[in-house]
Amino acid sequence: MTLLEIFPSLRSGMPSPRLDATVWPRRTHYDELGRITVDGVALDDIADRYGTPAYVLGETEIRDRCRSYRKHFPDAEIIYAAKALLTRTVAGWIADEGLGIDVCSAGELAVALAAGVDPGRIVLHGSGKPYAELDYAVRAGVGRIVIDSLTEVSLLSTVVTRPQRVLLRLTPDIDVSGHPAVRTGVADQKFGFPLHDETTAEAIRTILAHPLLELCGFHCHLGSQIHDPDHYGEAVRRLVARMAEVRREHGAVLTQLNLGGGHAVAYRTGDAELNLSELADIVDDALDAACARNRFPRPVIAMEPGRGVVARAGVTIYRVTAIKRVPGGRTFVIVDGGMNDNPRVALYGARYDAVLASRHPTGPQLTATVAGRCCEAGDLLATDVRMPADLHVGELLAMPCTGAYHHSLASAYNGVGRPPIIAVRDGRMRELVRRETPQDLLLRDIG
Ligand code: LLP
Repeated sequence: MTLLEIFPSLRSGMPSPRLDATVWPRRTHYDELGRITVDGVALDDIADRYGTPAYVLGETEIRDRCRSYRKHFPDAEIIYAAKALLTRTVAGWIADEGLGIDVCSAGELAVALAAGVDPGRIVLHGSGKPYAELDYAVRAGVGRIVIDSLTEVSLLSTVVTRPQRVLLRLTPDIDVSGHPAVRTGVADQKFGFPLHDETTAEAIRTILAHPLLELCGFHCHLGSQIHDPDHYGEAVRRLVARMAEVRREHGAVLTQLNLGGGHAVAYRTGDAELNLSELADIVDDALDAACARNRFPRPVIAMEPGRGVVARAGVTIYRVTAIKRVPGGRTFVIVDGGMNDNPRVALYGARYDAVLASRHPTGPQLTATVAGRCCEAGDLLATDVRMPADLHVGELLAMPCTGAYHHSLASAYNGVGRPPIIAVRDGRMRELVRRETPQDLLLRDIG
């Protein structure tokens, strides 16, 4: 008999060691029934009402993360990278908290505009923006467009009919390591312009000579899951030096320096995350030093966190649909979702934790692999996780840190529709995005 069984009331509000505040929304607890609650709502109740799998999203957590960015970087512009997660309501919360929004397609732009976000606070990105999207963005009055190629300089030159502020995306050749799919700061990849190259010089010359294009600064995005803040300091040093060269060569003083996103979060207990206080100090020191060395006026810094704002606000819930113990092999816990709602494991080898959400297990545990329902052997969600030995089919599992690049990367693979997004706050739940049904799939299939 454990203390918890003798005194079940001890469970209420008690953070379990497994509900680590670095990976779960900070308002996550066990209730008196031993169920996991997020911001006052039991995951079990969400599953009963909206079915599984479902993405649960903590509004308070997102708002708190926005505030934390603004507190740590009071002089910088914080622009949320919508590719991590975008719905009209989420865009509204983020704009409410004083952040700008970075979009990378007409679709994301349409959602941000539909949410009522001020177009002047929207930044458009992308390595291959089609003519029609540039035209749409310019007509919508998007505040800044980040130029990624010489082709884009030409396209934009013909599209603009009034002054348009632009940034030039540069690759400062900083290797932050990590998965090759998300290394973007090195020279040999598809994004932006090398720091020094004839194409870069031509882009700068052409934009400065254009009567309506206003080059206000440089942009870079070094990669994903960066936990060493020194990389950002190095980017500041290299890009400020490049800005000083532009002033020497053209007499133009660029005033904005956008350092992109890529701030690491912990997916599992013990994973390294980027410390925002350290980042603020390092960027500040690097700016002081670089501006003094180049006798260059301090540019306004912008940052574009996506994951850092929303990842830890998300929890995905699944029902166990089968349990298989392979003789001499692994124990598979199969759930009703999988790589169509979380392709990150198959794409990047991402690692997650999974926890029983419908009761607080106190008995013996075993090591299991949580697998999805898709028809691929690689459809795994979490490996080597501890599960109660008496786990049974029908029980509810929760996976934390699934707020970023989950809904936005989801697909209807295997004809399994994308899960709904259920927002929680102060004991209330509401559906932001409904489940994709077979009828939805048939609607697009116009035969
Ligand atoms: N700014 C730019 C220009 C970006 O390309 C990105 C992400 C961000 C900001 C935001 O990065 P974050 O702070 O969220 O790391 N699907 C991958 C991530 C790809 C990120 C692409 N660009 C994943 O699930 O890990």
